[in-house]
Amino acid sequence: ASLEDLDDAVPAPNRQQDRSVPAPAHPGTGFGNTPDTDPSLPANRTWGRAILDRVTTSQLGNDLVARTTLSGAEDLEETIAGAVSAAGAWGAMTGAQRAAVLHRAGDALEARRSDLMEVMAAETGKTLDQADPEISEAVDFAHYYAERARELDDVDGASFSPVRLTVVTPPWNFPVAIPAGSTLAALAAGSAVIIKPASQARRCGSVMVDALWAAGVPREVLRLVQLEENDLGRQLIADPRVDRVILTGGYETAELFRSFRTDLPLLAETSGKNAVIVTPSADLDLAAKDVAQSAFGHAGQKCSAASLVILVGSAATSHRFRNQLLDAVASLTVGYPEDAGTQMGPVIEPATGKLLDGLTTLGDGESWLIEPRKLDASGRLWSPGVRDGVKRGSTYHLTEYFGPILGIMTAATLEEAIALQNDIDYGLTSGIHSLDSREIATWIDGVQAGNLYVNRGITGAIVQRQPFGGWKKSAVGAGTKAGGPNYLVGLGSWTSEEATA
Ligand code: SER
Repeated sequence: ASLEDLDDAVPAPNRQQDRSVPAPAHPGTGFGNTPDTDPSLPANRTWGRAILDRVTTSQLGNDLVARTTLSGAEDLEETIAGAVSAAGAWGAMTGAQRAAVLHRAGDALEARRSDLMEVMAAETGKTLDQADPEISEAVDFAHYYAERARELDDVDGASFSPVRLTVVTPPWNFPVAIPAGSTLAALAAGSAVIIKPASQARRCGSVMVDALWAAGVPREVLRLVQLEENDLGRQLIADPRVDRVILTGGYETAELFRSFRTDLPLLAETSGKNAVIVTPSADLDLAAKDVAQSAFGHAGQKCSAASLVILVGSAATSHRFRNQLLDAVASLTVGYPEDAGTQMGPVIEPATGKLLDGLTTLGDGESWLIEPRKLDASGRLWSPGVRDGVKRGSTYHLTEYFGPILGIMTAATLEEAIALQNDIDYGLTSGIHSLDSREIATWIDGVQAGNLYVNRGITGAIVQRQPFGGWKKSAVGAGTKAGGPNYLVGLGSWTSEEATA
């Protein structure tokens, strides 16, 4: 069956609310978060099953998921020139006018929730419990940035001039929310956009862009290119007509982009190696659950994932936390998204190189609390691994792996635990589980990371509530936080009217 008839084939979810009524907005920001679909309702489980019945990811790499036409050199030139010439009219609209289009874009993404979840599962192996909140996040970005666009009209004595052309290069691990968020931010600011989806998630990118076009974003202003990571990609990034590049990806990719053009105006959110600290005062049940979810959601393939848990004092020396973690991790059902009961899905690329090493090789003094196992011949399906005894300064301590592995470190004091997190070059997310407010204050003061979470998992930042962005090598260029109040400002400049009068 084709995607086009999906809406007829899949029964509507019972979202238990009137979708024509927008989420209640916060006074002051005009925005409220879109709720996820409630899987405890039988109608919603039927809906989810119907989506998954259309997906066979166990054939990932063998099945044809999408057919795309790659852009050639002439297409690329036409795309860049066309976007530049369309940018003026879009940027000249008021923020309020663009906001109206963005609100419709949010509604269009909501209307295609089923389609988007299907292509996410098919292309990237994402389970429904991960895919559904990702659609909510994309919808949130549209409505949130729409309201921020209005504010660009509002400032006394100063006017906002957007950049002309933004290039968006998203990753495959959040193949809808991140491309949507970056694109919608640039559009809201008044810039034209060229988006190049990740090569593993081209269909996700094109369905998302289709929804935006259908909502009234002009095709001249928002352009989709499908490129291999080759000379044409380099040409696009290096083109002097490009005013901003919004990259979400590895730190090495940001460095590579910078090598293409020395004055590259980059807004990049990059790698992470994130730790959760657990102190003796913590609610250990909650900590074990949150650490397991943060480490193994989407098989650990999130820049925000927990890759380390650092146990402090008696939390380290007693067996209690380790045993609770062991039980939580060992009970995870691993499978393909379409298999009943799957809680942790596959890794998108067969584990090779660094990831394979992380899943099979122990460092000095390390042992497996749970040894990861390869579950089928594809090399994509792995059970989760937990390594104990990770030493300060070791490869595992300092390296991002992007897969279903968690390391345990120990520290005598909270200060030592904070130092272990801060040893790492990256600073994206970080968490603490503690019921002692003085410990929490010490940690907030000392830890070097962009997003800090207290007594909660460390993935799944919520638009407006937890603006998302990194510190240290987790951000490159002029990074402000996505889903936060200042993000659009980085996509243009303010001039005072006196200066221009
Ligand atoms: N925003 C995502 C998260 O918070 C990561 O990109 O998990």
